Amino acid sequence: MKAVRIAGFGAAPVLEEMPDPQPRAGRTIVRMAAATVGHIDRTVWTGAFLRHPPLPYVPGVEAAGIVVASDRHAPGQRVWVRGSGLGTMENGTWCELIDAPDEALGLLPDGIDMALGSAFFSPCTSAWVALHEVAKLQPGERVLVTGATGAVGSMTVQLARDAGAIVLARIEDAALQPADLLVDTVGGPVLEAALPCIAPGGRAVLVGYTAGNALPLNLAHFLQRDVALLPLNMFRREAAGRAAVPELLARLADGRLKLEVRRFGLAEAATALEWIAQRGHRGRAVLVP
Ligand SMILES: NC(=O)c1ccc[n+]([C@@H]2O[C@H](COP(=O)([O-])OP(=O)(O)OC[C@H]3O[C@@H](n4cnc5c(N)ncnc54)[C@H](OP(=O)(O)O)[C@@H]3O)[C@@H](O)[C@H]2O)c1
Repeated sequence: MKAVRIAGFGAAPVLEEMPDPQPRAGRTIVRMAAATVGHIDRTVWTGAFLRHPPLPYVPGVEAAGIVVASDRHAPGQRVWVRGSGLGTMENGTWCELIDAPDEALGLLPDGIDMALGSAFFSPCTSAWVALHEVAKLQPGERVLVTGATGAVGSMTVQLARDAGAIVLARIEDAALQPADLLVDTVGGPVLEAALPCIAPGGRAVLVGYTAGNALPLNLAHFLQRDVALLPLNMFRREAAGRAAVPELLARLADGRLKLEVRRFGLAEAATALEWIAQRGHRGRAVLVP
């Protein structure tokens, strides 16, 4: 089979021939139809993630495809694939035949195309868990979303509106009518500028730190304003994300939730890794065989 491999951190991804995986107990072989290139894959690739597969490795945390061989799933079944160490502790999804732990799979309804089936999990479940599990959003609350044009940000905007919240997608808007909740996907100076726009007693869910990983905190202001800073860690909250999947897939299928996906060839992994790091790109990237 063909697979994208990385020989060292930050090294160019190379499309190579590798032996096909063989059926094993507890594992499902999936013919890949689309494999996401996400920020997590970039972080593992640069060596900055807290764990990584042994080098050289096949990246890719997420994918969608068709079951080829499995004790648990019927051959021919459409599935999405995510996590359980794929692309972070062992070889991942950027290959024609994915060797996945059985528990990494979920059933993909016919109404969802493979590219969307690969790309939806991280942005949709992150936004859902941020709003409903971490922030406990209530109808009528004002929600400021930073990075609202991003994949997680745009899912947060759509899900918050669906839940009856009033969404503020610009810090200037929240400066005029303070938010009850901030969902920050950007970090650094953007988070610093957004925090004073939260009403006293409000809360902020911290999702990402593309713009910087440091936050100067004036403790006097922080205590006086009594704003709760709540981290989102989707590896620790994976179970809550998985529990929300049927509802999220139903909304993607009926068009209540929309996520743009851009396709790249399997040989274009380097271009996709560059594209997702560019300001102004829209939606998620997937590799297709
Ligand atoms: N904590 C978790 O468990 C978890 C889960 C999922 C994702 N994340 C993280 O969440 C972050 C967002 O993910 P995503 O998939 O939504 O990324 P994305 O699609 O690339 O979107 C990034 C967003 O941030 C904005 N942005 C980037 N740099 C900026 C800067 N310097 N100043 C102002 N805005 C900036 C972009 O604005 P433009 O459109 O103007 O470029 C865009 O709106 C990533 O860091 C990702 O790793 C964390």
